[in-house]
Amino acid sequence: MSLWSVLSSPVWGAGSVLLILVLLLRLSVRMWHKFYLWDLQHCSTDLTGKTAVVTGANSGIGKAVSQELARRGARVILACRSRERGQQALAEIQAASKSSHLLLGEVDLSSMASIRSFAQRLLQECPEIHLLVNNAAVCGFPTTLTPEGLDLTFATNYTGPFLLTNLLQGALQRAGSARVVNVSSFRQSHGYIDEDHLVGAGRPLAFNQNYDCSKLLLASFTGKLAQRLRGTGVTVNSVDPGVAYTKIMKHFSWSYRILFWLLSFFFKDSKQGAVPVLYLSLAKELDGISGKHFSSSCVITLPPEAAQDPHVAQSLWNTSVRLTNLDKPLVPGLGRGSATLRPLDQGVCRVLPGRTPTPQYRD
Ligand SMILES: NC(=O)c1ccc[n+]([C@@H]2O[C@H](COP(=O)([O-])OP(=O)(O)OC[C@H]3O[C@@H](n4cnc5c(N)ncnc54)[C@H](OP(=O)(O)O)[C@@H]3O)[C@@H](O)[C@H]2O)c1
Repeated sequence: MSLWSVLSSPVWGAGSVLLILVLLLRLSVRMWHKFYLWDLQHCSTDLTGKTAVVTGANSGIGKAVSQELARRGARVILACRSRERGQQALAEIQAASKSSHLLLGEVDLSSMASIRSFAQRLLQECPEIHLLVNNAAVCGFPTTLTPEGLDLTFATNYTGPFLLTNLLQGALQRAGSARVVNVSSFRQSHGYIDEDHLVGAGRPLAFNQNYDCSKLLLASFTGKLAQRLRGTGVTVNSVDPGVAYTKIMKHFSWSYRILFWLLSFFFKDSKQGAVPVLYLSLAKELDGISGKHFSSSCVITLPPEAAQDPHVAQSLWNTSVRLTNLDKPLVPGLGRGSATLRPLDQGVCRVLPGRTPTPQYRD
């Protein structure tokens, strides 16, 4: 059979039409993302002399955000739970951004002891912090208790950021003008608030609804913290990065991962997913804007009703303070978990002398 007869067969004809349609669809999705995304290249914000902390900086959106912050001159602390993965990301970010101001901090956000230890070292190294991006998160886990008695998903996605942000509050305020960016998800609208979920109890959850609920708690926390920080120069907002093809589904079964991979054709890549987070971190027009939730198109939108309720927010705040012992003094070296903050060029942990930080909790 000649090539011409193969090409002119109905199967080939239908196949090529389908292929062209898929490619056109992909092209239009790319154009749509480009058109609707904030124009990062036209943002002139320079971060020389500023300090930024990004959690979950070794992968996906966190890595892309860290790279852009480093490219703009910031000293970036890559807060990662795995030293190995963190070091690899650090080397890649350094090569891409040509920055020599990168530090790696080890912290497991599901462990309060690890967060306290990390915060202690961090505050010794960086008395002023201009930007905190609470990006790290997990999904795809069933209810699982950590050794500290917290639910793993809620601990990583909500309680951890709550504790870390509160411990760093003094350094954020000392910076004069600082931003906290909470990376949320459109999935928050599928969640509901039940404080008992924090300790692995409460109303039963459908598959992966713990992720949705944890992101809803983050939205409630964003509003409450913004209210508490009013007048301090620290703003706090949350943002949905949109659907991006990253490692976020790595704890799901292979069938879900294959589906995610197939659909990734139409998703953003990590760099595009980072743009809304960078908008909240960099855009000058957001100076003084606080307590807001932004969509993946960088537009202010209302969070779900439950996250707007001031009574719910206060109750959640009180419970979170109690669970994290934030109202009790910080005892250095106490607790499980390890954290190190190491300068790029040193192979061992550098412990700088300094006073022991105390939590910045205000009633
Ligand atoms: N991708 C999307 O479509 C999408 C959509 C909506 C919202 N988001 C949000 O975007 C953020 C970034 O996610 P991503 O898509 O970039 O996913 P990712 O590639 O899986 O990155 C998640 C990061 O969080 C870290 N992490 C997880 N558990 C941790 C812990 N206990 N302590 C410290 N770090 C921990 C991971 O570290 P390891 O590498 O060590 O696991 C990784 O660096 C998340 O908040 C996610 O909820 C993503």
